Amino acid sequence: MINSSIPIPSPCYVLEESKLLRNLEILDRVQQQANVTIILALKGFAMFSAFPIIRPYLRGTTASSLFEAMLARETFGGELHLYLPVYPEAEFDAIAQQATHITFNSLSQWQHFGDRTLAAGLSPGLRINPEYSPVEHDIYNPAAIDSRLGIRSEVLGDRLPPGIAGLHCHNLCESDSVALEKTLIQIETRFGQHLPQLQWLNLGGGHLMTRQGYDLDHLIQTLQDFRHRHPHLQLYLEPGAAVVWETGDLHATVLDLIPTPGTTIAMLDVSFTAHMPDCLEMPYKPRIRGARDPQPGEPTYRMGGTTCLAGDVMGMGDYYFDQALRVGDRLQFEDMMHYTMVKTSMFNGVQHPSIGLLHQDGTFELIREFGYEDYKNRLS
Ligand SMILES: Cc1ncc(COP(=O)(O)O)c(C=O)c1O
Repeated sequence: MINSSIPIPSPCYVLEESKLLRNLEILDRVQQQANVTIILALKGFAMFSAFPIIRPYLRGTTASSLFEAMLARETFGGELHLYLPVYPEAEFDAIAQQATHITFNSLSQWQHFGDRTLAAGLSPGLRINPEYSPVEHDIYNPAAIDSRLGIRSEVLGDRLPPGIAGLHCHNLCESDSVALEKTLIQIETRFGQHLPQLQWLNLGGGHLMTRQGYDLDHLIQTLQDFRHRHPHLQLYLEPGAAVVWETGDLHATVLDLIPTPGTTIAMLDVSFTAHMPDCLEMPYKPRIRGARDPQPGEPTYRMGGTTCLAGDVMGMGDYYFDQALRVGDRLQFEDMMHYTMVKTSMFNGVQHPSIGLLHQDGTFELIREFGYEDYKNRLS
């Protein structure tokens, strides 16, 4: 229920505190019952004004760049795990200063930076490629045999390089607990001989444990069984999407309606390419509150973005609304917290959505608006 005196502007990403807390309670149940540590992947969600809500539940974060690491240190605190596919020489010392744990993507990077890592007191790990992933989209599958992410077992060989304290495996994306179970079997089969020497195992992200229907009991049992087999290992999960799954929408407005022979195009004040890029990259069709997929013969609307890019439309399918859309109508694209704010651009100089927080008591807080200076400051 929104009972705010401040109107929600358009366009605006609106995070709902009560929904976030619901997710955090689920993550905490997993932490307590499976005895694992869950940290937030900043690449999926970095709305730092919400970190005071998240911090009581999660012990830290994981970062994949210098700037993410700086933001994590400045706004979240706690444990900071680093994984960069490749560490730039000029940034390494600054990055390492921020962190508690660091994962290298290749043996050569570990050889290059190992001494400096140990001197900085970080706990070092290696990313492995388990050569199993349930992910069908190539762009989101890091575990192909020719992937550039992670070390395959035969490349790692029989002995871990001295000094390595952990292994890191990220091969899931919006996956279920059965996929994790298969991953753990694969890790034990391919890398099992190394596990006794390690202190920690990071199972990456992609565990969509806050999705309705996710089998939490099976997840907890799977993790407990693994812990039983390897009681000395500290287990980490580092989800991004699961933390903020279904916790808020992107509010938009219909600015114009363009009739075409097949459908009516609703011209919006948001852009798919600039503000919801996963809709084009995955691609997927987002839900719009109050709309549904049309039945044959029903009048349809196609959602059109605000940039000049010809493909800035929701091409995965049109929508049906009970009432005909009118210019000025407000729309809510659902589940727009993960991989949106962190990925947006100011392409075409179009208005960037504001960012707001809907508190538990129904009051709306406008946290950030964007203007011309934000656009200009990225250019020179
Ligand atoms: C290394 C690593 N960890 C964690 C994540 C977070 O994954 P998700 O948001 O799907 O949970 C990603 C996502 O790409 C990743 O690459």
